[in-house]
Amino acid sequence: MESLHKKLEQYRDKDVYPFHMPGHKRQLDGAYKIDITEIDGFDNLNNPTGIIKDLNEEIARMYNSKKSYFTVNGSTCGNLSAISAVADAGDYIIISRNCHKSVYNAAFLRKLHVEYIMPEMYNDTLIGEVTIDSVREAVQRLEKSSIEPKAVVITSPTYEGVVSDIPAISEYLHSKKIALIVDSAHGAHFHFHEAFPRDYLELIDICIMSAHKTLPVLNQAAIVHVNSTLVDAENVKRYISMYQTSSPSYVIMDSMSRAIELLGENDLHKNYVKCLYDFYGETSSLKALSVEPISNNRDISKVIIYTNGYLKGEELCQILRSKYHLELEMCNREYALAMTSCMDTEDGLRRLSGALTEIDGELDISKKDKKTNMRFLRDHTKRLELYEVSNNYEELPYEKCEGKVLAETIIAYPPGIPLIVSGEVIEKEDIDYIRENYNSIEGMRDGMIRTTL
Ligand SMILES: Cc1ncc(COP(=O)(O)O)c(C=O)c1O
Repeated sequence: MESLHKKLEQYRDKDVYPFHMPGHKRQLDGAYKIDITEIDGFDNLNNPTGIIKDLNEEIARMYNSKKSYFTVNGSTCGNLSAISAVADAGDYIIISRNCHKSVYNAAFLRKLHVEYIMPEMYNDTLIGEVTIDSVREAVQRLEKSSIEPKAVVITSPTYEGVVSDIPAISEYLHSKKIALIVDSAHGAHFHFHEAFPRDYLELIDICIMSAHKTLPVLNQAAIVHVNSTLVDAENVKRYISMYQTSSPSYVIMDSMSRAIELLGENDLHKNYVKCLYDFYGETSSLKALSVEPISNNRDISKVIIYTNGYLKGEELCQILRSKYHLELEMCNREYALAMTSCMDTEDGLRRLSGALTEIDGELDISKKDKKTNMRFLRDHTKRLELYEVSNNYEELPYEKCEGKVLAETIIAYPPGIPLIVSGEVIEKEDIDYIRENYNSIEGMRDGMIRTTL
């Protein structure tokens, strides 16, 4: 079968003149040369019957999935589509409180009632797994009011790589005919090496993966897998075509097609995992800093570096950036997160382990700050469902909002998880968190937040 990647390469080298979009007319160099539109022979992403249908089928084969849909609009589009496909206005869904903002946005757009599950903490610092007990309790809470939720939505793995017990959660939910939607935005690589947790695609009704986050694929490339007897895959496809652009990027699609070829090379992940193990070995005896060790229920591709009160995570990132020219994915007060993938080089990982060892050696271990324990994931009082919050609002300085009902969700970014959800009551702890993390808060304008009238 001819791949989209090969076909685009051949097309690039032909002398066809474009009297069609995009306006750059392929006159510029690099990616512009294959940035075509849905012209003859290149199919239609939102109604694929040819080369893009083949791409979807290649992805499904690669993952052993019954149905897979590629989207150029990220897991954001995948989450919106998955939830929209399983629940109608007025239905209930259960979502894990650490879900990405797109999950909440789906509940808002589709006018859903939301019941929350609070995930555990992992190692007292990271957001952890969603337990089967918490899922069961949430279902039973609704059952007491004779409510049957349409789906449970969880994030597994989390941004920091912690996975939930998918087999147990899936078995329980399916015994109740409730769909399981798993946001695996950070788990697209699990399939490619046994050193990573299993993806359990076959047990998940709809699983959403940001291919771009952990595979050699361009930003925005994502996949929605449907393996369900409860969910109509065509309905998922219908919603994807509603939420995603009608001008899909062939550059992004090409990168997915190319990745399928690359991922077929056996040694890519094997070599990467070996480098990762070396890295964990080289950083296992730091004395002030510490690296979250290898474990079965966490993805080792996410390297968590704790600063243990000897400096702030932000300070560590600043030193790594300015002195060692290493840019990390995220940092907060307590730790920094280095994301790795099969495209990392031995040299890159060595540079990081070397830099950490050097920084560690220079830290004064007699000076240690107290642990702050400032958590942003907390239960809140819900006054209104997301969709019940009106567009009319009052804007107030955040310091003056204690006790008010929020009218626009406040998000901690990264990782894009709501701190307070629109319709919930703002608490003192939220205000303290906003003050501490002022520069990484989304949903606030110059210190003003929107509250209901
Ligand atoms: C858990 C999770 N889900 C979904 C998303 C959205 O993914 P995308 O950027 O591919 O739209 C993110 C992005 O950071 C995420 O961390």
